[in-house]
Amino acid sequence: MEELAPRAKSLIERGINPSLTVLLVGDDPASQVYVKNKVKACQRLGIRSTVARLPSGTPEPELLGKIDQLNADPTVHAVLVQLPLPKGYDEGRVVRRVDPAKDVDVFHPVNAGKLLLGDPGLEPCTPKGIIALLDGIGCAIAGKHAVVVGRSNIVGKPIALMLLRRHATVTVCHSRTPDLAAVTRQADILVAAVGRAGLITGDMVKPGAVVIDVGVNRVEGSKKLYGDVDFDSASRVAGAITPVPGGVGPMTIAMLMMNTLEAAEACST
Ligand code: GUN
Repeated sequence: MEELAPRAKSLIERGINPSLTVLLVGDDPASQVYVKNKVKACQRLGIRSTVARLPSGTPEPELLGKIDQLNADPTVHAVLVQLPLPKGYDEGRVVRRVDPAKDVDVFHPVNAGKLLLGDPGLEPCTPKGIIALLDGIGCAIAGKHAVVVGRSNIVGKPIALMLLRRHATVTVCHSRTPDLAAVTRQADILVAAVGRAGLITGDMVKPGAVVIDVGVNRVEGSKKLYGDVDFDSASRVAGAITPVPGGVGPMTIAMLMMNTLEAAEACST
């Protein structure tokens, strides 16, 4: 992530102070930790960060009004609504209120549409981090069979598109896929993003495959975080594998920083 420091510095030297505002509604303990990590990353790079905290009973129109205010503020380049929102909010409506130019999560349909079409624009943080990890270990993507387990808007769908753009053959699996293991065993690159602790076991991994574990699962009665991949068995078969915690999580934060800098750079041109 430190490679981003010169980009932040160069903006600051030009009189632009890159800035991210995180909207945090309620007091979900996991969200508090995630937000704290985002703030710390900003501090390391000289990005101005603000956490706008709203109590969980805040009426939705008030939350939307706050987003409008941040959209109109030229000193704020990036706006992120921390998910999940407490019960009672229309999450889709809320995240769509963020100005697409400040939408560093890439949740707005305009940005999602650009991603689908391959137009230039911001790319969602976790998938962008996965591609950076693959490139970082010199894993060629073109021509490989990539299997994505999970079809969420936040990871599964966008990573499938981004791997496709890099010329992988992509299969997307989900909860209704019969014989999941038969599909995952074909994967040269296996991305697990379903939110089920230990779903992917070593017998489901092709020897030598690159395994990317996006899962962050909490299991009742344990303080540990569990990935979607059973690390012990899968690491004996895989050529490379990401751990949980570590691996994808820190890359996601680094890519959020990169998107914030990109949004600030776009404002200044
Ligand atoms: N909660 C968990 N992951 C994310 C994310 O990537 N973006 C937002 N906004 N909330 C999250």
